[in-house]
This record gives sequence, C-alpha cells and structure tokens, in this order.
Amino acid sequence: ERADTRAILLKINKAAAQYYYVQLKSSQGAVGLGYFKKRQLSDETIKAFGLGYSNKYSDDLYRYLKSKGYKDDMIAKAGLISIDEKNGVYDKFWNRVMFPIMDVNSRVIGFGGRVMGDAKPKYLNSPETMVFDKSRNLYGLNRARRTKKPYFLLCEGYMDVISLHQAGFTNAVASLGTALTPGHAALIRRYVQEVYLTYDSDGAGTRAALRAMPILRDAGITAKIIRMEPYKDPDEFIKNLGAEKFEERIASARNVFMYSLEVLEKEYDMNSPEGKTEFMKETARRLTQFEEEIERNNYIEAVAKAYHVGFEDLRKLVGKMAVQAG
Ligand code: CTP
Ligand code: MN
Ligand code: MN
Ligand code: MN
Ligand code: MN
Repeated sequence: ERADTRAILLKINKAAAQYYYVQLKSSQGAVGLGYFKKRQLSDETIKAFGLGYSNKYSDDLYRYLKSKGYKDDMIAKAGLISIDEKNGVYDKFWNRVMFPIMDVNSRVIGFGGRVMGDAKPKYLNSPETMVFDKSRNLYGLNRARRTKKPYFLLCEGYMDVISLHQAGFTNAVASLGTALTPGHAALIRRYVQEVYLTYDSDGAGTRAALRAMPILRDAGITAKIIRMEPYKDPDEFIKNLGAEKFEERIASARNVFMYSLEVLEKEYDMNSPEGKTEFMKETARRLTQFEEEIERNNYIEAVAKAYHVGFEDLRKLVGKMAVQAG
C-alpha cells in the first residue's frame, strides 16, 4: 500500500513538473522565461533541467491535478497544496520559477521555487514526503552520474548546478538547501572518490565547507576546495570569468588542510609578529595530526612555503607541540 502511494506521488510530481514547464512556455509564463533568460539559461538547459513556472493564481496546479483525476489527500501528500478549513485549498507554489528536483533515476521527487524579485523566502522547497528525503538526494545527480570525471563538483544551489552543467561541467551536484549529511556522502561515494567543494565564498558557505569535510572524509572521499572569490558562487563566477577560468580554479584547488589554515588566518593579526607567531603555533599544533612522518613533513613543507617560515624551525615547533600533546 505504501508502494502504491509512492507511485501515485511520483506520478503527481511528474504531472506537476510537466504543467510548470508548459506554463513557462505559455504567455502567462513569459515573466518566468524572461527571468531564466536574464540569468543566461539557454532553451536547451531549461529543457534538460525541466525548469518551469507556477502561475499567479493560487490554486492553478490544484485544479489541473484534479482534472487529471488525482485526489486531494494524494495531492496534499505530494506536498503541492495546503488545505485550510476556512480558506480552502492553496497551491504551495505560485508566481515562482520552478526547479523540479529529481532522484538519481530522473523521477521528480519534489520542487524548489524561486521568487523572481527580492521577496522572502527566496526559495521555497517541497516538504519531505514519502518520496522526498532531502538528506538522501542530490540536485543534479541524475545527470552528473554519467560523468567520466573521477570527481564531483559539490555546490550549494540549484543555479550553481545548472550554470556549471551549461558551461560543460556536467559533474556538478548540490545538496538541497541543507547541510551535507552522511547520507549524501554515501550517495556520492557510489560514483566518485573525490569531491571538489565549490560552496559560496561568504561566511555561511565557508562554514558549510568546513562542516562537510569530516563527513566526506568519513565516507572515504577526498575533498578539495575551490575558491570562488571575488565572486559569490559558481554561477556568478562562470558568468563573469567563464569556463576556462573555472577550469583553472579546479586545477589549483587546495587540499582541505591548507584551506582550513586560510580560515584560521582570519582569527589572527597576520601583520604583527605576535599575531603571526600565535597563528604558527596553532598551525604547528594542527600539524601534529599527521602521524606518518613523510606525510607530516610534506605538510610542514607546504605550510613553510605558504607562510614564509623555515622548514626546520616549523618542524621543531611541531615536534614540541607533539610532545606537549603527549
Ligand atoms: N535555499 C533554500 N531556501 C532559501 C535560500 C536558499 O532552500 N531561502 C537553498 C537553495 O537550494 C539554494 C541554496 O540554498 O539554491 C543556496 O542558497 P543561496 O546561495 O542563497 O542562493 P543561490 O543558489 O545563490 O540562488 P540565486 O543565485 O538564485 O540567488
Ligand atoms: Mn531526512
Ligand atoms: Mn549561499
Ligand atoms: Mn547564486
Ligand atoms: Mn549562492
């Protein structure tokens, strides 16, 4: 019976995605299509990702799904409407551009909807349903799984994934507006052993990247970080600097340890001798985590080079820290 309900929910989601797509191409959807064009998405990209538009009327999709014979309780279970005793039935999404979220087998399991202006919330997402578990699905995976590259680009948002794919980086995926979970990492590990994190360059993105690292490592995935500065995210980066420059960033991606030092730097006054000394002490303490001598020395060398300190001086300091740590 659960399986039957799931099948119906998937059918409803598919019908909804088709409806939103048709609306985008209709006269009502001109505003949505214009929005996507302004964001430089091609017709081909819009089709490949099944992008759509939810009309201004607040029960448009509901009436459409009813006309297809679907029952209220199922449409509600799909997360597409809310039923209010007093005010009746409302579509969850209206007057938004729509991003259908697909599972790895390209079945529509939910939606993200974006306002076209500055209203809040910027994105509205389907609630978790019997077919939509945010912690076990990745946006773009249905396409990225076909990549020949040995790694995925893991980013934050719908538009990042879409822009990257359009620019030829068809190995981009995103977690669905949530923090990366062990479920996501296990899913990634089925396809690749390496991930390049391309999160937003703001504080939230940096923190999210730092939190994602141990989760990826625990799943047996090697992580590297790609910096998007001076741009906010991969979508903006690609639009301003193009695919070739993005390729260069991939090539110069930093490993996680060196990246964590860049984050640490911000806590110290690196222009004063005291600040830099304290920073180096903390760095040396962190270097003690590499217990294997060759690996430790390789990291010491990299740090010495990056921060212009003597290899031997730093090696001694790390040794001292290791003793202190016992
Ligand atoms: N997100 C969300 N709800 C919000 C804001 C964000 O679910 N209110 C999710 C979306 O999946 C979004 C991702 O978090 O794509 C990253 O958010 P953000 O960086 O703010 O948005 P962008 O993806 O950069 O969106 P855009 O470029 O359209 O402004
Ligand atoms: Mn969940
Ligand atoms: Mn962000
Ligand atoms: Mn963006
Ligand atoms: Mn962003």
